[in-house]
Amino acid sequence: MKRRLLVLLTLCMLVTATVVPGITQAQDGELSGDLEIFSWWAGDDGGPAIEALIALYSERHPGVEVINATVTGGSGVNARAVLQTRMLGGDPPDSFQVHAGQELIGTWVIADRMEDLTFLYEQEGWFDAFPAGLIELLTYEGGIYSVPLNIHRSNVLWYNPAQLETWGVAVPATWDDFLAACPTLQDQGVTPLVVGEAWTVNHLWESVALSVLGVDAWNGIWTGETDPAGPEMIDVWAKFGEILACTNINEDAGSLTWQQAVDRVVDGGAAFNVMGDWAAGYMATTLELVPGEGFGWAPAPGTDGVFMMLSDSFGLPNGVANRDNTIAWLALLGSVEGQDTFNSLKGSIPARVDADTANAELYNAYLQSAAADWSADTIVGSLAHGLVANQRFMNDFNVVMEVFLTSSSADAAAQAMAAVCAQSGACG
Ligand code: GAL
Repeated sequence: MKRRLLVLLTLCMLVTATVVPGITQAQDGELSGDLEIFSWWAGDDGGPAIEALIALYSERHPGVEVINATVTGGSGVNARAVLQTRMLGGDPPDSFQVHAGQELIGTWVIADRMEDLTFLYEQEGWFDAFPAGLIELLTYEGGIYSVPLNIHRSNVLWYNPAQLETWGVAVPATWDDFLAACPTLQDQGVTPLVVGEAWTVNHLWESVALSVLGVDAWNGIWTGETDPAGPEMIDVWAKFGEILACTNINEDAGSLTWQQAVDRVVDGGAAFNVMGDWAAGYMATTLELVPGEGFGWAPAPGTDGVFMMLSDSFGLPNGVANRDNTIAWLALLGSVEGQDTFNSLKGSIPARVDADTANAELYNAYLQSAAADWSADTIVGSLAHGLVANQRFMNDFNVVMEVFLTSSSADAAAQAMAAVCAQSGACG
């Protein structure tokens, strides 16, 4: 009897030891039915990363059929529109990609469309696993409404080291350095800075604004301390105009996806591109370039020491069809293994503080440098990727940009931004 008890106890211990953290034993093997994951990741925009994460889920939960519902379009421009129709029409996907910060809170949480996930944070021990500042971005009135999968950096300048050498141009530390190099590049038939479709122009703008304003005044836009029509904002637009004159904005920008803009840099048609570090995922995972050799990177000019962040997260909408399967999905993507599986392919670093970013087998030279900057730099939030301002502001910011592009007037753009600030309530 004693022996049988001992065998049973040992068996129990063995089983417990092999259970993967983040997945409760009760969920393992028992789940069935569907799980619909909604995102804008496919192909060369995060495709391999989301597929690897889904494969890991399927391995853990073979009884569940995962539907990978993707609406492509960089930065979620198309996906968000489809999501809006589904959410408002009472047909939510089981879980969807949403940026931490205002895109989550200002759109879905205040409208009471998401479940509070505090129970999962407690169950999985996530209060120690994620940075407190990040959890704060997911929190509203005491509830926590999504699980962060990664940290991306917006303010990165990409280039091709071999080409820069041929053209005799150094990596610019400031926008004035860049403007000085602009004619040298143009004389050689090279686009100094490549931009793509509309949202990528907004993406460039936030890096320029950060460099002109500095950290405090950038943050001040969203707290009401920086006057959106004030002199420093007019300086932002003026500098932005000078920089745009060194781009392809009046040529083919509108027809280029962000990947095609990155291709220009890789192929030597353009010298620089400012894009989030999904560009590193694209170049390393899809194009199979070696970081530091096939492509180089630096903080966007004038933003050294500042990490403009965004985070892709997933939540649990109210009334989903497959709640248990979704909770298992969220538990997996918040686990170390889930984050390592996804981020090593995506160009982002894990949101968890305890993931092994020093492991060179998983995290390439770019990701290791991003991880180092993430812990050393001052952190600010991205506008173009939903962190600092609500959806209303973001939509209307496209109009502000339109005003600037058609009028070339820094003053008019600043006035337009002040109006949009007031209408959306996004600026403090
Ligand atoms: C961002 C998103 C990234 C990447 C990028 C390009 O908004 O956070 O994960 O997908 O858009 O589409």
